[in-house]
Amino acid sequence: MDKNKLSKAGLGLGLRRALTQETLDFYSSENNTGLIEWLEIVPENYIYLGGRKAQQFQEVLDSGVALIPHGVNLSIGTAPETPGKPCFDPYLIDGCKELFQQIEAPWFSDHISCTRVGEYYLQNLIPVPMIQESVDIIADNVKFLQDEFQLPFLVENPSFYSTIIDAEMSEAQFINSILEQADCGMLLDVNNIYVNATNHGNYQPVEFLDSLMLERVVQVHIAGHLNGYHSHTGHKIEILDTHGEGIIDEVYEILRQLLARTEVNAILLERDSNFPELKELVEELKQIQGVVARSACDAAIQV
Ligand SMILES: [Fe+2]
Repeated sequence: MDKNKLSKAGLGLGLRRALTQETLDFYSSENNTGLIEWLEIVPENYIYLGGRKAQQFQEVLDSGVALIPHGVNLSIGTAPETPGKPCFDPYLIDGCKELFQQIEAPWFSDHISCTRVGEYYLQNLIPVPMIQESVDIIADNVKFLQDEFQLPFLVENPSFYSTIIDAEMSEAQFINSILEQADCGMLLDVNNIYVNATNHGNYQPVEFLDSLMLERVVQVHIAGHLNGYHSHTGHKIEILDTHGEGIIDEVYEILRQLLARTEVNAILLERDSNFPELKELVEELKQIQGVVARSACDAAIQV
């Protein structure tokens, strides 16, 4: 997978129903100075549409904004019943195929996680054990998906709060092994790096960046999180990956450090809950744009 052969999408925002009209209005306005060049869609929400939802999606298509799909239910961590024979939900695959052709997707992505066991969807991103057997399963699944869709696939580093069994490798080694064995790209979530570094204390964010195959990073997610979370059962989690708060400086710094090391094709502001007015997200996009501009400047100075 050579990311230089893929298109450059620039900055984007997640398309969410609560903000759809405002987002499209901003996209077409003269205030949009490269702040929203594309929108990320969760494909599971846009397949087999009918009625009002189909009409609303047509309005999005008519706006001319580029769309890039990011799935939650492909479940690349699901082991097939017969080893070596990937098995996906044909209803989901067929729907996504039609959608990806319709939106002319440049690539697609999903998390390194398990969201389905057999035909049962778990409605959550369950972490997979960081062992060679998982690498084999995920690589087979990703190769199958890339063949099936004839599109590059990106694996996203997830945040997680527990591990199921003892790891045979570090998180970075696990991701690198998948990238190599599947010959796919990476969607690097810089907030997830911060969340895992803080909750598990296994590495510093920059150290993690330096152990990854950054030449495979095509797309970036950046988001906010919630501090000091206590569950209703009394469990304390240092940080919860909510995508419902503003981005903190430490996470902008990870983006800066990443861009000092490699170029990327697309950066997404990921906001999924606790939606503010769009103008607040536009301010965050301006901050991200500032980080990108300073990185480009630094690169030019080094030359
Ligand atoms: Fe993400």
